[in-house]
Amino acid sequence: MGGGMSPAAASGSVVSPTARPLSGSVSVPGDKSIGHRALILAAVARGRSRIRGLPDAGDLAATIDAVRSLGASVDPGPEIRVEGRGWEGLREADAPLDCRRSGTTMRLLAGVSAGRPFRTVLTGHRQLLRRPMGRVAAPLRALGAEVLLGDGDVAPIDIRGGGLTGTEVGLPVASAQVKSAALLAGLQARGVTAVTETVPTRDHTERLLAWLGAPVERTGRRTTVRAHQVDGFAIDVPGDLSSAAALLAAAALVPGSDVRVTGVGLNPGRTGFLRTLERMGARVEVRPVGGGPEPAGDVRVVHGPLRPIEIAAAEVVPMIDELPLLAVVATVAEGPTVVRGAAELRVKESDRIEGVVAGLRRLGVEAEALEDGFVIHGPSRLRGGRVDARGDHRLAMAFAVAALAASEPVRVDGMGFAFDSFPGFLDALEAL
Ligand code: S3P
Repeated sequence: MGGGMSPAAASGSVVSPTARPLSGSVSVPGDKSIGHRALILAAVARGRSRIRGLPDAGDLAATIDAVRSLGASVDPGPEIRVEGRGWEGLREADAPLDCRRSGTTMRLLAGVSAGRPFRTVLTGHRQLLRRPMGRVAAPLRALGAEVLLGDGDVAPIDIRGGGLTGTEVGLPVASAQVKSAALLAGLQARGVTAVTETVPTRDHTERLLAWLGAPVERTGRRTTVRAHQVDGFAIDVPGDLSSAAALLAAAALVPGSDVRVTGVGLNPGRTGFLRTLERMGARVEVRPVGGGPEPAGDVRVVHGPLRPIEIAAAEVVPMIDELPLLAVVATVAEGPTVVRGAAELRVKESDRIEGVVAGLRRLGVEAEALEDGFVIHGPSRLRGGRVDARGDHRLAMAFAVAALAASEPVRVDGMGFAFDSFPGFLDALEAL
């Protein structure tokens, strides 16, 4: 199955230390998490939708191709037009759906497929075929879908869906992807589906559904949903805070920097990194703007001397994708930064604990991997060298940020993987 690594993505880039502080105001491409959900809900909606602000990024392309295979028509561009089929109009795909390296594509579409009375097989790049899928199979089986996995509970996911009945679903792992899969299945089930999380995760799916008039209700960590057919919609997707975080981390790292990113999503389930930078001693200013289903605004980070920090399990979820950036920023803090309760990092696009620790050590940083996190001993003088992004967009961007503060240029192997979420990342960095 395809989803192979393109030569461009695999190629490396040399990132040179910055001679000056970073300064200026930039925008970033639209939010990948919200984008997947908007594309999927548009595909299952009745009628036309318009989605503005999404980048031509690898992970979103995987979702677009997959919903096309299920029968939706998608016309890409700065404004994506989707002709939805309604639940009943989706059709069995001719071949397995290739989710490439995108876990969100795979897990959310598993939820859609669970409710459809046909067979869907979800597969992808070998990197995705190593990630845990038992967590998404369990709730979908509880609702009545037949879900087969490969040995070790990995994809391909082979689903025979339809005939779902709502039930109480408890999710042992804190995962917005799994929660969203259960809710998308619940929208197609008889009766009430109730999903309870251990820790509240990003609620993009719930917000979009409520905004579209679906019967979704939240009380604390429990969310209920009933069967519903959404209609087509028009949405402006805010900038991706996880992409902005790379630029803001660069501002926190390089003395004298002052960087503003405009129009980014500020979902409280995603803003943990901003709170952390502030606690470490950077100046963080947030100016909310706009309306729509998601809070959004401008964020400014001004460099300041940084203190080390200890991050415990409860703080991990709202900054899960930013932890590699935190590791980089921690290299200049005055003492050891410790992250615990983040074992999930081991099952992302790569093992991010091993990856970030190995990369930073190559650059001369004293860093240790823990079973469920890492320790970075600051302050460390970053030197030049060669690091491997391990096919992971977040590691590629984190190492490029580290390079800005290094004494010599850094070669980042796999820099092109940044394209999975942030096409134009190096240009944005250069603009600052
Ligand atoms: C995402 C949820 C998180 C996050 C991922 C995107 C989402 O994953 O790491 O980048 O869009 O729901 P988990 O749900 O596996 O924690």
